[in-house]
Amino acid sequence: MATSTCFLCPSTASLKGRARFRIRIRCSSSVSVNIRREPEPVTTLVKAFAPATVANLGPGFDFLGCAVDGLGDIVSVKVDPQVHPGEICISDISGHAPNKLSKNPLWNCAGIAAIEVMKMLSIRSVGLSLSLEKGLPLGSGLGSSAASAAAAAVAVNELFGKKLSVEELVLASLKSEEKVSGYHADNVAPSIMGGFVLIGSYSPLELMPLKFPAEKELYFVLVTPEFEAPTKKMRAALPTEIGMPHHVWNCSQAGALVASVLQGDVVGLGKALSSDKIVEPRRAPLIPGMEAVKRAAIQAGAFGCTISGAGPTAVAVIDDEQTGHFIAKHMIDAFLHVGNLKASANVKQLDRLGARRIPN
Ligand code: HSE
Repeated sequence: MATSTCFLCPSTASLKGRARFRIRIRCSSSVSVNIRREPEPVTTLVKAFAPATVANLGPGFDFLGCAVDGLGDIVSVKVDPQVHPGEICISDISGHAPNKLSKNPLWNCAGIAAIEVMKMLSIRSVGLSLSLEKGLPLGSGLGSSAASAAAAAVAVNELFGKKLSVEELVLASLKSEEKVSGYHADNVAPSIMGGFVLIGSYSPLELMPLKFPAEKELYFVLVTPEFEAPTKKMRAALPTEIGMPHHVWNCSQAGALVASVLQGDVVGLGKALSSDKIVEPRRAPLIPGMEAVKRAAIQAGAFGCTISGAGPTAVAVIDDEQTGHFIAKHMIDAFLHVGNLKASANVKQLDRLGARRIPN
């Protein structure tokens, strides 16, 4: 059922002319949003793509992530006179597991981020409808929810003339992440900005792009088993406190990872990515075969391997595509023979652009 959401002031929302579904929304007076002059739409339809991401990169739990090329979600938003001004409805969801996703914008990652952008822009006079093409499987560790949110945030912002900053788009998308899995920007920031991103601070939000040299070759071997690892569950498995030796070790490895990215040192990047002693050891046993998959990747020549985001995707790094496919085959075999899980692989490069408008 299509549901539209009025978020600015009236406490009731309805979708005109279609199946009606009324929701009450409490307007929060504490939302820190700059009230702007309402912009006009600069066009009637915008389509945006947002790339998949690898969050954590081993020791960078919740503060490091990067975007990968060629995999992602697409969101289209259009001005829709059928939708009440100031409201948004989700008209269509296609691609991966569309029936698992809500069409209520308050419970859909793309919807939540689109609403936040409309709030930030003070949109009251125009109704929007949104359609979502899920290119990424849900709960895969490839930043599926973040890509939907990032594509929606960018699409709505483009429709109204790109008034918001990158930080505002990340904050809008973070609202969505907060609702579905936790307040972490290591997927949404790289999905919006592209490349490698370090979250320097959450309060205030400080985003630090890390430039990987353009001339260097870097391939991510992403192997996704047929297994769901919900982020909430994978976060619940983490320790609440850590000892000083692990703190020192993980900080030094995260520092080494950042230095390796900036230097374009793929061997160093792989070594640091493989080194997490805090998060990966708690999560890997929850993903059948993961430890064997990591060993198989390294034996096949990968410079390093870890869990992508909260899993279950395993990510290995290498500097040439052909070896990447060879490593992928060994990782798939390990998932099958040790974890009893079928898996599929993608060998991809860094996405340096981030979420962007694409032709309609
Ligand atoms: N940093 C988050 C986590 C990313 O590992 O829980 C989730 O994709």
